[in-house]
Amino acid sequence: MSSKGTYDLLIRNVDRIATMNGGEPGPIANPTEADLGMIENGALVALADEILAVGVTSEIEASYDPAPGAVVLEGGGRCLLPGFVDPHTHFLFAGIRDEEYAMRVAGVDYQEIRRRGGGIRSTVRSFREASDETLFETGRRRLDTFLANGTTTVEGKSGYGLSTTHERRALEIMDRLHQDHPIDVVTTFLGAHDIPPEYDGRKDDYVRLVIEEMIPAMAPLARFCDVFCEEGYFDVEQSRAIFEAGKKHGLIPKLHAEEFVPMGGGELAAEVGAISADHLLVVTDQGVEAMAAAGVIAIFLPGTTIGLARPGWADPPKFRRHGQPMALATDCNPGSSYTESMPSVISLACSLLRMTVPEALLGATRNSAAAIGVLDHVGTLEPGKKADCILISSSHPFSIPYRFGSNLVETVIKNGRVAVTAG
Ligand code: NIG
Ligand code: FE
Repeated sequence: MSSKGTYDLLIRNVDRIATMNGGEPGPIANPTEADLGMIENGALVALADEILAVGVTSEIEASYDPAPGAVVLEGGGRCLLPGFVDPHTHFLFAGIRDEEYAMRVAGVDYQEIRRRGGGIRSTVRSFREASDETLFETGRRRLDTFLANGTTTVEGKSGYGLSTTHERRALEIMDRLHQDHPIDVVTTFLGAHDIPPEYDGRKDDYVRLVIEEMIPAMAPLARFCDVFCEEGYFDVEQSRAIFEAGKKHGLIPKLHAEEFVPMGGGELAAEVGAISADHLLVVTDQGVEAMAAAGVIAIFLPGTTIGLARPGWADPPKFRRHGQPMALATDCNPGSSYTESMPSVISLACSLLRMTVPEALLGATRNSAAAIGVLDHVGTLEPGKKADCILISSSHPFSIPYRFGSNLVETVIKNGRVAVTAG
């Protein structure tokens, strides 16, 4: 009789495992390489969807036996990391706005494109016309692309319906995708993304609709409530009212803040107890100080600098000064950042924002998991967490930002099962 544990998945002889578990609990500010919790010649064992142990291969193999039919993966020449957690996306949409990108490259700005009838409203028209099946199918294909790029948990926002019926449809379809697809989808209600055309000139009436009708109806379908708090969209007062109403129905605030014009979005995030404030290109020092004190996580979306084709990105030193944890997301959407690739975002964060490589890798796993409240079960590789992890075709995790444009993700394990095998 053996007292050894039993696994149904073993990944062994991995050159380096970046567990992202350096010892401290919670999101990490100002990390060093030690916070990556690196193990050389490592192994991971899992049973069902749960990690049993992570350690040096010889010790793991001495302590665990395979269950009948157990899967064994060889990690030689490779690196193992937690699956990426993408904490800010608008992945469920219809229609195409690629011509708007060409306009921006030619010098027309995002706000001007909106005045000409493009922008969010263009996607609202496409979304309302699309059938449930079209939305489901295009959403599923996009999730396949996220998975192939190493993402195993995605936050997804409504915000292209902008009526009670269509916002509900967005959240329900994302819930179906969560059930149907290996990726876990965490949903956010973003009724205040823009005002729909039928409310032109009546923004306060639309805010009232969001507060009185949409929030009570959407609360059971979403975890977070988001607002595009930006000049020309929703001001601080309107945003605050929406967040307070959401909180009464159990929705946690999370916001688009300080992207183009400084409005006090950092301070508002702190005041309403937001889990994260996202974009933050023009946030003030006081805004960051307030966020850090309130435990709001900063999410940077550098894909928008590419998609909007205008210079400017978040400034990490401003956040480090205040001990503010930073996270990264794709912001995958048709109008300002059309990418499903967290590795690309990590490259941009390192080379353009000058996040350190450990900051960016933790920002795409551990800290991004904290930014959507899922760090208790994903975001690091440690016993008891979900077996969501990726093997990359390089022995060092720093290859992820360095070798930009190449998808190094070779094998994706989701819930303890091989979900993607490259080649
Ligand atoms: O995060 N800022 C608001 N929402 C998106 C853009 C959405 C769109 O243009 O469709 C963003 O950049
Ligand atoms: Fe966004």
